[in-house]
Amino acid sequence: MSLKKIAVLISGGGSNLQALIDKVHKKSAVIDIVISDEEDAYGLIRAKNNDIETKVISTKSYSSREEFCTALMEEIDKRDISLIVLAGFMKILSKDFMHHFKEKVINIHPSLIPSFCGKGYYGIKVHEKAIEYGVKLSGATVHFADEKADNGPIIIQKSVEVKSDDTPKKLQDRILKIEHEILPKAVELFCEDRIEINERMVVIKDNKGEVI
Ligand code: GRF
Repeated sequence: MSLKKIAVLISGGGSNLQALIDKVHKKSAVIDIVISDEEDAYGLIRAKNNDIETKVISTKSYSSREEFCTALMEEIDKRDISLIVLAGFMKILSKDFMHHFKEKVINIHPSLIPSFCGKGYYGIKVHEKAIEYGVKLSGATVHFADEKADNGPIIIQKSVEVKSDDTPKKLQDRILKIEHEILPKAVELFCEDRIEINERMVVIKDNKGEVI
């Protein structure tokens, strides 16, 4: 059976993309295209270094978010894509986009959702807020994306301890490491048809189809 094709959407450094290239690409899925909304995103170089097709679709070329999202949709629709991975993609996608690709879009967020997520929680801000609040645990979440930011059913979460001498940067670096474990894992599970969504609950099945 041929491997499922995925599209990875990025805006920046692409360390999560790199984890997908290293752990998933040509093993449990094929990264068919990497799309960035930023033309100087380093992730584009990571993709090119691995002979993966890239495309820049910039909001600057469109007069509205809807038009920008339609262009993304059209590019993805040209291909037989099973899964869209938002790996540090910094634009909010339209309702139409989310409906069109319902249950086919996953996102990685650097906190234990529903803490420190949603509007205004991105990049280093997430970790600043976690430290400011004084939580003892933070972590990362891979979830299905829907029309609300950081809202859809959770696929995998993993925690890290917040230490008393943590800075936002130190915490961010530790969490990024676990992102690189759980994002490839979630993509693998999806592409092996081992994920089922029951309302908000995501059920993971073993290789024989049994719930684990
Ligand atoms: C990650 O922390 C991810 O959780 C968030 O954006 C960051 C992207 O990092 N959504 P990278 O571009 O994958 O290095």
